[in-house]
Amino acid sequence: MIFRQLFDSTSSTYTYLLAGHTGGEALLIDPVLDKVQEYERLIRELGLKLVVAIDTHTHADHITGLGKLRQNTDCRTIMGERSGADCVSYRAKDGETVKVDGVALKVLYTPGHTDDSYSFLVDDRVFTGDTLLIRGSGRTDFQNGDPHAAYDSLFNKLLKLPGETLVYPGHDYKGWTVSTLDEEQRHNPRLQVRSAAEYAKIMNKLKLPNPKMMDVAVPANRACGEARKQPA
Ligand SMILES: [Fe+2]
Repeated sequence: MIFRQLFDSTSSTYTYLLAGHTGGEALLIDPVLDKVQEYERLIRELGLKLVVAIDTHTHADHITGLGKLRQNTDCRTIMGERSGADCVSYRAKDGETVKVDGVALKVLYTPGHTDDSYSFLVDDRVFTGDTLLIRGSGRTDFQNGDPHAAYDSLFNKLLKLPGETLVYPGHDYKGWTVSTLDEEQRHNPRLQVRSAAEYAKIMNKLKLPNPKMMDVAVPANRACGEARKQPA
């Protein structure tokens, strides 16, 4: 499998490129609008054809590249079925498998950070969006976030996968690139809790400022990052 972890330093977002083989079809997870040209160059250089672009959830901190990539490459755009983005070409359901060439992504509904958060399992890797971060977890205080749902997604869904599963998050602010579920279960401070109530207590105390781009990014991302047409 061809696999690349790409980074947007402005929003500390990881974007993932996956493809079955050289010359084959490719998919991107969580592409950033400002990086679209770079993704397209890399895809060309690797002799790949982009056929799918996926967002794990409606991002609040950057504008998605989904719409632009679809415009440029005719790829399909995918989010989970709970997404409010009516611009996507397909909404994937919990438990289903999305296939691109030789790559199979099992769709896992993992709400809590937002109510439209999904994770994607590909063999021994799980792309967790902001549901599970390395030594952290996604905030739950906006976009219908819910710490109780997040606890359930973390403990009853992600941590039920094999412990050696590699964790590839949607963001990292310290430069960590990959972890495993075992490692996170043992060392992630957010996971050292015994109940959903205890998790909610931690999350409700965070009092984080809103992301700088939130007011722009959320409405833009509901339209796949494409500017809404101004009325004539
Ligand atoms: Fe997020």
